[in-house]
Amino acid sequence: SASLTSNIHWHSAAVTKKDRHRLNDHKSCVIWLTGLSGSGKSTIANALDKRLYEMSIRSYVLDGDNIRHGLNKSLGFSPEDRKENIRRIAEVAKLFVDAGTISITAFISPYREDRLLARNLLEEGEFIEIYVKCPIEQCEQRDPKGLYKKARRGEIPDFTGISSPYEEPDSPELVIESNQLTVDECVDQIVDFLKNRGIV
Ligand code: PPS
Repeated sequence: SASLTSNIHWHSAAVTKKDRHRLNDHKSCVIWLTGLSGSGKSTIANALDKRLYEMSIRSYVLDGDNIRHGLNKSLGFSPEDRKENIRRIAEVAKLFVDAGTISITAFISPYREDRLLARNLLEEGEFIEIYVKCPIEQCEQRDPKGLYKKARRGEIPDFTGISSPYEEPDSPELVIESNQLTVDECVDQIVDFLKNRGIV
């Protein structure tokens, strides 16, 4: 039997993602950068963030510095911990997308399955996987944090590319050969992609 309130519907004053897109004058998505340590993910992420800012586009970078030291500070580099790392990051990135912001993530994310899980959390067209491709020899030569050297000496267990796998993306939206391009050219490629997709 019908109660007094059964025909009364609460209209929440929700601001939708579409409303936010209209307000911002651009759409939102996740730019998911994946690649080896030292491949240039963070550099590209931050340069892209700056370029979008200059275009009056709202974006925000999630990377190791603000995630593995905070939200995910209890996680290590076992396959299970990396999976949980990526799952949480994908959930956070999705919140940014709901908030109308372009979320730029810079994590190794070495497992195909974990990246697919991240993709599946988002709507069609919202997850833009970008493989920052750089030969491991070059990453190792750069070795900005001296981690490859330590890994070679056996001082870092499960180090990606040395003692832990990196599974290349099968069909990323974009491949960026970071060893062949300037940072600006890498950013140009991503911005062109966003324009072609009608996101910005
Ligand atoms: S993952 O695989 O996506 O969960 O990794 P991520 O969160 O991107 O963290 C990678 C950064 O952590 C440092 N580091 C290691 N990387 C790979 N393997 C091992 N075992 C490891 N231990 C520490 C390293 O500095 C990575 O930073 P980037 O910026 O990628 O060089």
